Amino acid sequence: MDLSQKILQLKKEKKAVILAHNYQRPEIQDIADYVGDSIELSRKAVEEKDAKMIVFSAVDFMAESAAILNPDKKVLLPCLGARCPMAQMLTVDEIKRAKAQHPNAPVVLYVNTLASCKAQCDICCTSANAVEVIKSLEADTILFGPDSNLAQYVSEKTGKTLIPIPQNGFCPTHLLFQPEDVRVLKMQHPGAKVIVHPECSSEMRSVSDFIGSTSKMCRYAKESDTKDFIIGTEEGILHRLRKENPGKNFYLAYEGAVCPNMKLTTLDRLYTALKDEKHVVRVPEAIAKKARCSLERMFQV
Ligand code: 13P
Ligand code: SF4
Repeated sequence: MDLSQKILQLKKEKKAVILAHNYQRPEIQDIADYVGDSIELSRKAVEEKDAKMIVFSAVDFMAESAAILNPDKKVLLPCLGARCPMAQMLTVDEIKRAKAQHPNAPVVLYVNTLASCKAQCDICCTSANAVEVIKSLEADTILFGPDSNLAQYVSEKTGKTLIPIPQNGFCPTHLLFQPEDVRVLKMQHPGAKVIVHPECSSEMRSVSDFIGSTSKMCRYAKESDTKDFIIGTEEGILHRLRKENPGKNFYLAYEGAVCPNMKLTTLDRLYTALKDEKHVVRVPEAIAKKARCSLERMFQV
């Protein structure tokens, strides 16, 4: 039996479900029960009622959200080092300071945050629903973190004032995209549509035809009649895009756009995690209880 077959057998024996983010390695996406963006994976983790265990092939904050929403299931993160650097850019102290300066502004946090921060906010959002979440609030001035690019994008879409916390939170992988690279690719593929993630800079967003979460980007490519696409997000998404659209061409706007943390999950690590039931994601209940409210409020929107 090869490693993939061993994983599939073990998964059955242990009543486990494997969830994988759109940026995971191709071989991980191929053995997963479900591949999706961060909101879809959170939802799936809750819907899988019969699962005893969830193997979350992604990064820390996504597995933490699953653990918060599923206190009765064992949530495993195959590699403990798989941490989202943007989530590390916001601290509880920073949120408290911002709240003290703007006492009337609600706090909205992107799910790319640690559980301790989620426990401090009014509502969470993902890139798929950030605009709707902000529109759902009465306030016109809102504290928003940690992604300052997403904050700017949502502010443009809603006309509301979003105060970024911290001032310049960003994703190191999406920062690599430059509009000049898109222009060169456009010369080679003149009819191509440019689809990007809202974590990209405003310069990148301004040369795009579509902006959306990773799964919304996949949906756009599937439904479009266009044959060529220039992609402004992490390279792992190309596997799903090519698999779902065999007759279409996908060009990464910058070849080096790799999230090293997303690549830490390998078949080997996933197999060991499942066999030894490690690493179990644990969130202290006092924090989980508050963070759960912020996540559940998001689901209501
Ligand atoms: P999505 O929710 O769009 O999949 O994004 C998560 C992420 O980390 C993007 O870098
Ligand atoms: Fe975090 Fe960026 Fe990696 Fe997404 S791509 S997990 S935001 S570092």
